[in-house]
Amino acid sequence: MSVFKDGLLAGQVALITGGGSGIGAGIATRFAEQGARVAVLGRKLDKLEGVAQQIAAAGGQALPLPADVRDFAAVEAAVAQAISTFGQLDILINSAAGNFLSPAAGLSANGFRTVIEIDLVGTFNASRACFQALSKQGGSIVSITATQAWVPTPLQCHAGAAKAGIAKLTQDLALEWGSSGVRVNAVAPGPIADTEGMRRLAPDETDARSRLERKMPVGRWGRVAEIADAVLFLVSPAAGFITGTTLVVDGGQSLVGAGDLFG
Ligand code: HXC
Ligand code: NAP
Repeated sequence: MSVFKDGLLAGQVALITGGGSGIGAGIATRFAEQGARVAVLGRKLDKLEGVAQQIAAAGGQALPLPADVRDFAAVEAAVAQAISTFGQLDILINSAAGNFLSPAAGLSANGFRTVIEIDLVGTFNASRACFQALSKQGGSIVSITATQAWVPTPLQCHAGAAKAGIAKLTQDLALEWGSSGVRVNAVAPGPIADTEGMRRLAPDETDARSRLERKMPVGRWGRVAEIADAVLFLVSPAAGFITGTTLVVDGGQSLVGAGDLFG
């Protein structure tokens, strides 16, 4: 259940990349509960349709948009489809990402490039493709980054570099697009339970998982709904004077540092 009053996003349209699963799906669902019509973008149509059906069953409206964020033309076409279906676009959430654990010395050039292209280039592509529509009536972008952007973390040089790039892109886009009425922010989650991200970084049975849980200052991992509420705050009028910032929603994990968690 959300801590926000219902209908906060009534009349608005949001596009969520990576909206077919995990944190992106949680954001799409929370936005729909708050009255937004949502478009969910990802590569696999079945996942997108599953989320759209759940939203429709709860009385909301959702449009599945199969596309790869690395392909600018495909993203542009998906954005055009969202606008022709819903008539406007007010919010973009960049949640699409790819990640795996790999030592830098064993990571291929293509492995590094792949993560940079999904996370960082994909975030630029979607932001650039949405900018004109967002600037029509004033809009907002929130990108999902990670504390690996500034906390040195073993086996994560590809994802850390991509997320650090997103933090800087967030500042530069905020600087350039503020005068067009577009706010640009990011959210950096800590470890979030029941997500593909944590299944990859700390599988259930590993020591890394229990070490990570013990080291959390708040004593637990986060919930998808807690990230969705932080994003909802940033796109809401309550955050109307906030732009160019990364909101850390990590239960204090980055205060401790990564240490040998993934080592
Ligand atoms: C080393 C790997 C690898 C692995 C892939 N590669 N997996 N290298 N260890 N486990 C290398 C491949 O060998 C290849 O390089 C290159 O990466 C591209 O691999 P493909 O499989 O061709 O890429 P693609 O089909 O585009 O798939 C992208 C993917 C995949 C990232 C590899 O896992 C994916 O689609 N992920 C999406 C879902 C996901 O990752 N969700 C978690 C996000 S959470 P070569 O040289 O062989 O050609 C997240 C976590 C939290 O981001 C925060 C931390 C920042
Ligand atoms: P997830 O469920 O795997 O979400 C990632 C989504 O991105 C998937 O739905 C995937 O769908 C989509 N995607 C991947 N590559 C894509 C591409 N090339 N084009 C379009 N869509 C693509 O993982 P998650 O854990 O919820 O992560 C969501 C976001 O939160 C990510 O940005 C991640 O870095 C961030 N984050 C997560 C955690 C955590 O604890 N989970 C912590 C910090 C940050 P398809 O495969 O169908 O394309």
